[in-house]
Amino acid sequence: MYSSSQEKELFEQSKHFLKFPAEQKSYDLLIDVLVYHEWRYAIQNDPVISDFEYDQLFDQLKKLESQDSKIIRPDSPTQRVTTDLNPEFPSVDHLTPMLSLGNSYNAEDLKDFDRQIKKLLGTEEDISYNIEPKYDGGSIALVYENDMLLRAATRGNGVQGEEMTPNARALPSIPLKAAFSKFGIHTAELRGEAIIPKDLFKKINEERETKGLKLFANPRNSAAGGLRMKRPSETRDRGIEVFIFQMSYAADKDGNDILASFGKHSEHVHMLGEIGFKIPIDGSKVVNKIDDVSKFISTWEPKRDSLNYEIDGMVIKVDDLASQAKIGYTQHHPKWAIAYKFKAKQATTTLLDVEYQVGKVGSITPVAKVEPVFLAGVTISSISLHNEDFITQKDLRIGDKVLIERAGDVIPYIVKSMEDLRTGDEKPIEFPKHCPVNGTDAPVELVKVEGEAAWRCPDCQCGKQNLQKIIFHISKDAMDIDGFGKSYVERFHEMGWVKDITDVYNLDYEAISQLEGFGTRSAQKIEKAIDKAKQNPIQRLLHSLSVHHLGKKASKIIAQKINHVLDLKDWTLEDFTSIKDIGPVVAENVIEFFQDEKNVEMLKTLESYGVNLTQTEADKPIEVSDDAPLVGKTILFTGTLQTLKRNEAKKIAEENGAKAISAVSSNLNILVVGEKAGSKLTKAQALGTVQIMTEQEFIELLNLDK
Ligand code: IVH
Repeated sequence: MYSSSQEKELFEQSKHFLKFPAEQKSYDLLIDVLVYHEWRYAIQNDPVISDFEYDQLFDQLKKLESQDSKIIRPDSPTQRVTTDLNPEFPSVDHLTPMLSLGNSYNAEDLKDFDRQIKKLLGTEEDISYNIEPKYDGGSIALVYENDMLLRAATRGNGVQGEEMTPNARALPSIPLKAAFSKFGIHTAELRGEAIIPKDLFKKINEERETKGLKLFANPRNSAAGGLRMKRPSETRDRGIEVFIFQMSYAADKDGNDILASFGKHSEHVHMLGEIGFKIPIDGSKVVNKIDDVSKFISTWEPKRDSLNYEIDGMVIKVDDLASQAKIGYTQHHPKWAIAYKFKAKQATTTLLDVEYQVGKVGSITPVAKVEPVFLAGVTISSISLHNEDFITQKDLRIGDKVLIERAGDVIPYIVKSMEDLRTGDEKPIEFPKHCPVNGTDAPVELVKVEGEAAWRCPDCQCGKQNLQKIIFHISKDAMDIDGFGKSYVERFHEMGWVKDITDVYNLDYEAISQLEGFGTRSAQKIEKAIDKAKQNPIQRLLHSLSVHHLGKKASKIIAQKINHVLDLKDWTLEDFTSIKDIGPVVAENVIEFFQDEKNVEMLKTLESYGVNLTQTEADKPIEVSDDAPLVGKTILFTGTLQTLKRNEAKKIAEENGAKAISAVSSNLNILVVGEKAGSKLTKAQALGTVQIMTEQEFIELLNLDK
């Protein structure tokens, strides 16, 4: 569609407009530029500018058109109704259109917004604004009738959405029933955003990586995509949470619109919190003038990374609902609200080289070495390229200028290479055929298991896989050997003292105490930590063995069923798969592991060094009698507990029949608060349905002090 010289020209022109905003005479050219970027983004799936830059160009176009509406061309990108309708889902009409938001980027833009509001309201008085985080996920609309969830839909084209009620019903943060009638509401339409918490997203991707599946690019895509899964259980398994930030429609049983009777936006949102919805609490505030909006935002932007979900800005809304009605809407967005977009966390740098790492089960991970670049608080010089497919799909070459992104805690990611900036000297990346980290002269051919993306070294000659296995073995998730960290393992491995995990339990502490940087005390400390780990429950030991696909949860389930780890030698595929939650892939890998005589010998050696291989009390399933005091209750601990440890408290609660959950919602029955309890307590109080008790009251309830 475009020749490469046209592309170059349009790219240069974009850069020019970003520096020197377009004037009326460049209207047609600006449209050409935006149409080009839409094509790169939507058709080629390969944008050459960031979203932030695109927004800036789009805003320039809107500005030119607002200065003189006669010039508006019907094919202008502003005239497009964006759509993400999927024919697989039935479409439904939203009760009120789901509009977009106008954007602002600095305090001056906010002042313009405020001036406009005052003009529309015909007042000089300060305006009260409600500020909320702008969640970066997938939008969702919920309709409730007679207190029951009637239907849920995605945004779609804004007028019609895709109905996905069964998926919404699978999400615990969406109440199936909510007491709207308490407030005289018969029909309500709510707006919200589906997000995936960052920690969960990281975990999901880690699991996908071990399974060799394609990684999700970011929490936003996987949340938005997650709403549209074919099966509701898949939606639920993504761990989606839904924040509700708006009631867009409220009618009594005669169909009268009663939305304005709630007075303030902040009040109706608070009311939604009271009847069980997850509403903005962190980062939400009402302020009385525009200068305070800017102040609040500047204290909030730096906190962005510490939140457990992605936000890409803040939304500022006129708080008074009657004023909102007076101010009104454009076709595209409400005039009473505006988004303040945070700075994009993208940067460009140069791909200098690719190095390779081997993982604990032999997967070879390519890692890009890039020209160090500072992005969102950290200097980045290495970025994982995941696997060969990732390199091929992105057509990455050494010497390429690459666009990189870092979203919150999420690891840095190469979005794409800038093909247009190639000089011709770039070199293709040839994925190795033989193990690239092998430190010996004997080449080992890499293999690829069907259905997995990673190349693996099937027969490690150099010991580097074992090193990764030992590092995993001692880690917090596995044997949790406190005080014996990765750097010690690397050092001892290099010295030939730990070649495999059995050597961890056969160290010469006398020799360690003689090493530079060590002494008797630190050697004793290591010995104590290792001795303690020997007594670990076998669920930890099973997980620590680096059996491909055998995770923490499956290890725990298997540990509940055996007396001794070596019992697994005789287990058949049916023995495994008859257990709920153990699939054939895990089963086959565990069987393969125990069929290998070397592994059995290794376990016997571990036992001879004193490592526990027998089922412990902690491995046994918790048995709860029907009349235990917390049967059928959900419980959550928050704040710092003084007497009990958090894990211990959770276990006690479970032994007494409770189910521990991780968030405050209408499903929560009991919240136990320790010192410095924060937003969870506030939210539980706002819900009004949660029993709140102190740690002491919890102890007394279960007679733990007797
Ligand atoms: S208000 C009629 N508030 O941003 C008011 N939107 O760019 C329109 N979003 O589609 C939306 N957080 O999905 C509003 N606190 C928030 C939001 C928010 C995220 C999303 C929403 C909307 C998009 C608009």
